[in-house]
Amino acid sequence: MKSGGSYIFNDRLVYRNQEEYVVVDRPKVVQYIDAAMNQPDLDGFRKHITNLKLALENPDEDLITSNGQGFSLRLEPFLTDIKQILDAYTLERARYYAERLKKGLSEVKTTKVNDINVRRWKDYDEVFTDSLWNINRRDSSGAHLGWYWGNFIPQIPHQLMLRYTKKGELVVDPFLGSGTTLIECRRLGRHGLGVELNPKTLHKARELVEAEENRHNVITRLIVGDSRVFDFEAAIRAMGFSAIDLLLMHPPYHDIIRFGSDENDLSNAKSTRDFLHMFGEVLDNTLPLLRKGRYLGIVIGDKYSQGEWIPLGFYCMQEAMNRGLSLKSIVVKNFEETKGKRNQKALWRYRALLGGFYVFKHEYILVLRKV
Ligand SMILES: C[S@@+](CC[C@H](N)C(=O)[O-])C[C@H]1O[C@@H](n2cnc3c(N)ncnc32)[C@H](O)[C@@H]1O
Repeated sequence: MKSGGSYIFNDRLVYRNQEEYVVVDRPKVVQYIDAAMNQPDLDGFRKHITNLKLALENPDEDLITSNGQGFSLRLEPFLTDIKQILDAYTLERARYYAERLKKGLSEVKTTKVNDINVRRWKDYDEVFTDSLWNINRRDSSGAHLGWYWGNFIPQIPHQLMLRYTKKGELVVDPFLGSGTTLIECRRLGRHGLGVELNPKTLHKARELVEAEENRHNVITRLIVGDSRVFDFEAAIRAMGFSAIDLLLMHPPYHDIIRFGSDENDLSNAKSTRDFLHMFGEVLDNTLPLLRKGRYLGIVIGDKYSQGEWIPLGFYCMQEAMNRGLSLKSIVVKNFEETKGKRNQKALWRYRALLGGFYVFKHEYILVLRKV
């Protein structure tokens, strides 16, 4: 498997954490903490916590288990917590921090929509919570190739799945394209259904998805179809599900890129109004299956036509809101320059200066919840 899972997000280096979680032997760690708690003075307390730190840093000490009986966490933030205990000036404060650490080890607190243990929220520094996403490059780890013109970067499905699904839940992508969403499903242990109009695209996507190791043994199904009329209910039933846990849509940005000549392709819609109508049909065909309280993510950019900025993103968002969904976030993400655009950069700048507009540098990730 290739590496390449790190990138810069808003000036911060981010790693895919998936492989970095370690499993610590909880009872043994608690023993160290309890031994410290029994000490009458700060020096004695510190001695036991220092022993814990050394044991964690030394793989021979057996604190990190591989038998699955322990508690999954990331070592680095855990060691930072330990340092905080060691740096405390009073015994009372040190005890307070140690008690908190112990609590974090014994209790798991998650919400209904994901597996993030907020008791150890520092372990999840790869999970974005800002509405501005400035990402320097695509995650090229795993089977992601980025070959498809008009794909999205894997970080998008990765982030949305971490925030809005639990392991073993079902993600549906009605505009599958090159299969980015389903590759992420395999990597994160979510079941996935992807529907794509263009059979050739789907064929290639299938090869890539199959190339991704299925470590969590999930079902990833790719089907050719027009998502406006495709029988999603039958397809998810055949996979053993009755509802969708996360709906992820990355439709064509109207006719910016033509994905084929099929008239059912949204990129061939004759006008903005037709495009929105077709997008609305996909919403109507999928939203009834989305579980109540669960999320829809729409990834879309705007377009510029005949001297006017066409806010496709906001129009699509409105289509979803018109169907009763509540808006949770408008994320603005920087736009990767495609090779074609890069060559035309100077031309676009010239046009912008002349035409009184700004050159596109962003697209949207719209997050909505079914209430
Ligand atoms: C923006 S691309 C999605 C790219 C995808 N997220 C990826 O990473 O590869 C939109 C896709 O929607 C497909 N599409 C367009 N109209 C469709 C329809 N009516 N039903 C299903 N797929 C459609 C296009 O063929 C295209 O592959």
